[in-house]
Amino acid sequence: MKAYHLNGHAGRDRLVRVDLGKPEPADGEVRIRVEAASLNYRDLLILDRAGQGGLDGRVPLSDGAGVIDAIGADVLQWQVGDRVAASFFRDWVSGPFKASYVASSLGGDKTDGMLAEYVVLPATALVAVPAHLSAVEAATLPCAGVTAWHGLIARGGMGQGDTLLVHGTGGVALFGLQFAAALGARAIVISSSDEKLARAKALGGSILINYRDTPDWDVALMKATDGAGASHILELGGPGTYDRSLRSVASGGKIIQIGVLTGFGPKPDLARLQWENADIIGVTVGSVAHFAAMNRFLTDHAIHPIVDRVYGFDEVPEAYAHLRSGSHFGKVVVKL
Ligand SMILES: NC(=O)c1ccc[n+]([C@@H]2O[C@H](COP(=O)([O-])OP(=O)(O)OC[C@H]3O[C@@H](n4cnc5c(N)ncnc54)[C@H](OP(=O)(O)O)[C@@H]3O)[C@@H](O)[C@H]2O)c1
Repeated sequence: MKAYHLNGHAGRDRLVRVDLGKPEPADGEVRIRVEAASLNYRDLLILDRAGQGGLDGRVPLSDGAGVIDAIGADVLQWQVGDRVAASFFRDWVSGPFKASYVASSLGGDKTDGMLAEYVVLPATALVAVPAHLSAVEAATLPCAGVTAWHGLIARGGMGQGDTLLVHGTGGVALFGLQFAAALGARAIVISSSDEKLARAKALGGSILINYRDTPDWDVALMKATDGAGASHILELGGPGTYDRSLRSVASGGKIIQIGVLTGFGPKPDLARLQWENADIIGVTVGSVAHFAAMNRFLTDHAIHPIVDRVYGFDEVPEAYAHLRSGSHFGKVVVKL
């Protein structure tokens, strides 16, 4: 079968195409014929680390969807032919997060990911693909979709009458925007591009701010909301955005701490949190149970993920370059 490996050897491409034997499912496992895989900002960070060693031979990408084509013994919940997507943390099935789950993140330091024709996973690490979604659409869900769902809805309780702020128009942000629109919450989008803001408006964004033209976007946001601010904030930027997010939070609001788009380790002035009786909710993606709950919501609201561009298997380096350019709107996908 064909696959990609990360490569840490100097002077060679960081992504190399390889031919591998088809894996066989053991007891409790299934084999998936992967139809599509999607890229996340995390995959750029991992690619950048590949040159430092430790990731040699790792199959990249956490996100993929396909069809079950073989089943090991003792698997009762799936059949050959079922359409499935893999959950980001192979071992986080339900309940609270445990640090031990980190090693099981697909395409991460310790566990192979989805950029291969066939992947074997435990039967418990999968969810059914909603019937209204194509494989390309389903492949966008595991990281970006589940992160937005877990933070905003499972933990954040976002609903009608709330006001959401999202940073930019990448994968996590647009899932947040679509969830807000489906719930009847107001959405505020900040973006580097007026053209992207116009597209965000068509998805339900109602307050649109270009953060390049308006670097003090928190001031503009407060003016546009008559001083009320945002009840829910998808904090995707990190150090470069955190203080403005804090100055944008409504009384009793929630900052969902997720992103590192401007770097790691924000050192925000947290005083405002106390004066506004606001909360910070830290999120690392989510569990199989979060994924399944999100899929029910996607089905109920007939939500289709926003796919920016689909690349062929031979074009994986181009797909990474496109994501790195930041010119995308929504998700970048590879079709196998
Ligand atoms: N904690 C977790 O479990 C978790 C899970 C998923 C993602 N993440 C993190 O969340 C972030 C978003 O991930 P993603 O995969 O959705 O990324 P993505 O699709 O690559 O989104 C990138 C977009 O973010 C916007 N952006 C960049 N810098 C910005 C800034 N300074 N202010 C506002 N917007 C900015 C840009 O949109 P415009 O062009 O519209 O400006 C850019 O196109 C990343 O840092 C990622 O590592 C964390």
